[in-house]
Amino acid sequence: MNVIMATPEAFPYAKTGGLADMAGTLAKELSKLKVQMLLFMPFYRTVKERFTPEKLDRSFEVEIGGQRISGELYRDGNTIFIGCDRFYDRPELYGTPSGDYPDNPQRFIFFSRAVFEAARLLDFKPDIIHCHDWQAGLIPLFLKMFYRKNVPFFAGAKSVLTIHNMGYQGIFTADVLPLTGLPAELFNPEGVEFYGKINFLKAGITGADMVTTVSPAYAAQIQTAEHGFGLDGVLLKCGGSLRGIINGIDYGVWDPARDGHITKAFNGKNFMEGKSACKKQLASACGFSDPEAPLVSFVGRLSYQKGVDLICAAAYDIASEGVNLLFLGKGDAVYQEELTALAERHNGRICVRIGYEEDLAHLIYAGSDIFLMPSRYEPCGLGQMISLRYGTPPVAADTGGLSDTVRNYLPMSGKGTGFLYEGDDPRSLKQSLWYALSIYKRADCWKRLVRNAMREDFSWKKPAALYKGLYHELTGL
Ligand code: ADP
Ligand code: GLC
Repeated sequence: MNVIMATPEAFPYAKTGGLADMAGTLAKELSKLKVQMLLFMPFYRTVKERFTPEKLDRSFEVEIGGQRISGELYRDGNTIFIGCDRFYDRPELYGTPSGDYPDNPQRFIFFSRAVFEAARLLDFKPDIIHCHDWQAGLIPLFLKMFYRKNVPFFAGAKSVLTIHNMGYQGIFTADVLPLTGLPAELFNPEGVEFYGKINFLKAGITGADMVTTVSPAYAAQIQTAEHGFGLDGVLLKCGGSLRGIINGIDYGVWDPARDGHITKAFNGKNFMEGKSACKKQLASACGFSDPEAPLVSFVGRLSYQKGVDLICAAAYDIASEGVNLLFLGKGDAVYQEELTALAERHNGRICVRIGYEEDLAHLIYAGSDIFLMPSRYEPCGLGQMISLRYGTPPVAADTGGLSDTVRNYLPMSGKGTGFLYEGDDPRSLKQSLWYALSIYKRADCWKRLVRNAMREDFSWKKPAALYKGLYHELTGL
């Protein structure tokens, strides 16, 4: 079976969040399951600067709004990069902290059309085109409306759309519709129209043969008004073709027993020494005045979704309890500024690192005592799975993928892996954290909790097999 994975980002090449990990690792795991796989993504500046893929001797042109724009292809193993410097040779993937790139519609129309051009040039006839998020949302509709009917090469292809986050839909003014090349008749509520605008994710949902999202709990939530971001009605219509498959984490990258980024390796049986060496290094790098204090950390995109404002609101009380707080993140300017100010006010107790730092993230997962994930919604979440694998129990909101992957710890039974709480307010977050800290003080209970956490299976084995099964179901192969 031939599968094209069309994604706006993939680890290790370009990453702003968990989508990159998911797409990159799923492609790798499916290849291990003997699926013929090519992953297509844009040739961003960050890829150019850090990798040297082979330039292929094939180029193509895509017409957008009467303009012919040429593209190039690059290859590194199973990854095909769509090159077009005017669109992708930029400092960031989608925009700067102050806003998105205004030509994002053109950038991803180009990418979506280029995937079809590239497949033909490479003579890779897909049985499945698996698309990720709004950036690849036009592909299923292009396939349904045009390529399957008019281009024999794609006659047998089916599409899967995986939604990683309903909060990002690719909504643009109506004048973008003609640029897509899609017919004007589609500009209605049954098609791509969304409150007078065009919605790329909606195009994907209506065009795809199968829609998936990244956890069963989130699959149910997005069919409700609270979490559907206006598309709940459209998703309800998908019925059985909307599935929730929980992501895994790449055990080759995230393994405390073989992690080159951390001070001392450890495993689920023997973790005390390793974790404490990592904590020591972290505390000294952060300049905490009381390095032995419980260390509570956050790693993630600084956005409303992640509840960064809730931690900021609780930070003073948390620090006053003698807890060290550590943040690593990048994102909305307002949170970057608020966090920086907090760290200045509570120097020695709160440490803030603004930026994207892969190495430091590894050390934080390993050396912290508690991981915070107060997300307002969370489609899957990788942070909590990584922290569990590194023996750092999460305090997390009971929503989406967090509900599906964290089990509440009960001292009476000794079962559970972390702490889930309801409510998106600083008070609920603090209460859950106080409870976690009370368990932390009971060394035996805490050891057991850490052991439980590290025993969980978050490998890609099961999810990859589920995706493969889904491809078989769609193609009958
Ligand atoms: P999302 O995809 O919504 O941003 P996830 O929890 O699914 O959240 O995945 C986030 C991924 O990105 C994790 O692998 C996390 O470690 C990583 N990450 C997020 N922010 C940073 C950062 N500032 N530095 C290093 N890694 C980060
Ligand atoms: C999104 C979601 C996150 C999920 C990731 C990978 O960015 O916000 O919850 O883990 O995609 O699927």
